[in-house]
Amino acid sequence: MLRTAFIGCGGIANAHVPGWQAVQAAGQAAVVALCDVSDANIDKLAAGLGLEQFARYHDWTALLAQEDLDAVDICLPHHLHAPAILDAAAKGVHILSEKPLCTSFDEAASIKAAVEAAPVTLMCAHNQLFFPAIRHLRERIEAGAIGAVQQVYSGDCFRLDRTVEEWGWRAKLATAGGGVLIDTGYHPSYRLLHMAGSSPVQVTALSHNHHCPIEGEDTAHVLVKFANQALGQISTSWAFPMHPGAWQVAVFGSEGAIFGRGNDYLLKPYNGSEEAGSLPPANGFAEEVKHFVGCLLTGERPIQTHDDGINVLKLILGAYQAIEQGVTVRFEE
Ligand SMILES: NC(=O)c1ccc[n+]([C@@H]2O[C@H](COP(=O)([O-])OP(=O)(O)OC[C@H]3O[C@@H](n4cnc5c(N)ncnc54)[C@H](O)[C@@H]3O)[C@@H](O)[C@H]2O)c1
Repeated sequence: MLRTAFIGCGGIANAHVPGWQAVQAAGQAAVVALCDVSDANIDKLAAGLGLEQFARYHDWTALLAQEDLDAVDICLPHHLHAPAILDAAAKGVHILSEKPLCTSFDEAASIKAAVEAAPVTLMCAHNQLFFPAIRHLRERIEAGAIGAVQQVYSGDCFRLDRTVEEWGWRAKLATAGGGVLIDTGYHPSYRLLHMAGSSPVQVTALSHNHHCPIEGEDTAHVLVKFANQALGQISTSWAFPMHPGAWQVAVFGSEGAIFGRGNDYLLKPYNGSEEAGSLPPANGFAEEVKHFVGCLLTGERPIQTHDDGINVLKLILGAYQAIEQGVTVRFEE
């Protein structure tokens, strides 16, 4: 039975509850401690998890010093990801961390060194990889359904009307690390990488703030070239919704194209008949927690580790650099 703790018990931690309940019911893991600066958020998460007994902490260094843990689930604001990951790795504790991995390449390099030296398993909580359509598209691409991947579009756009108080830590560059691109835009970015099946070698981007009272951008468009020559495009916004009928992911290959959204997919070979399908629904957050715990128990590599998180950061931090300097940013293969 793996002994686990939450570090950060706010909004998204509650979405992880069904996953932890499932692994607890399977006798694989138990949540033994909750850490947050807010007692109200600890209480709410404890109630959601149905915990009668747990240790309560307001400081993760005390949690890591006093509890004998196998793993932590980090659900903190962006600027706290790197320090919490480094502290957990130093104690030999495995890590499931919410996105983004961290907010700078220097932090990413420290995380890679610490996680590999420990060694511990770090899984990036890329929950949308567990969406039925995203899983299905990747399987069909790997099975050759569209030939070689040549072009990928991935988008996540919706309009949010919030006051600066409601934006909270997301309103500040110092705590969020950017605007929509490093937050909601992180999802279409890892989807893009997963579909391209390659590493980014060139990134350029444009962004603007049209609508939201935050320091960062509320809309961004990123262009990417991958090592396998595939081209990618990411669109993300908190100012505008997706256009009606838009797919979350569209992948064009040498032999055809495949599109996905939620549970639905459409395969369109260039020479052959179309195939449309609707897959059984799944809770991506629950699947991600089950996958993380399963990997810890079997020793299998999680679907996305810190190395994949660093590739996602190449898209996002590369895009920020491209925007700031008006250039195309290049990365080694
Ligand atoms: N995968 C997704 O779809 C998704 C959706 C929303 C948020 N997220 C990610 O989850 C993370 C948290 O976002 P959120 O929306 O839950 O934010 P939130 O503000 O609701 O929760 C953050 C929690 O961290 C706590 N906290 C802040 N500083 C702390 C400290 N020093 N020590 C301990 N606790 C501290 C806060 O009190 C709060 O409870 C972010 O990385 C965000 O990008 C992911």
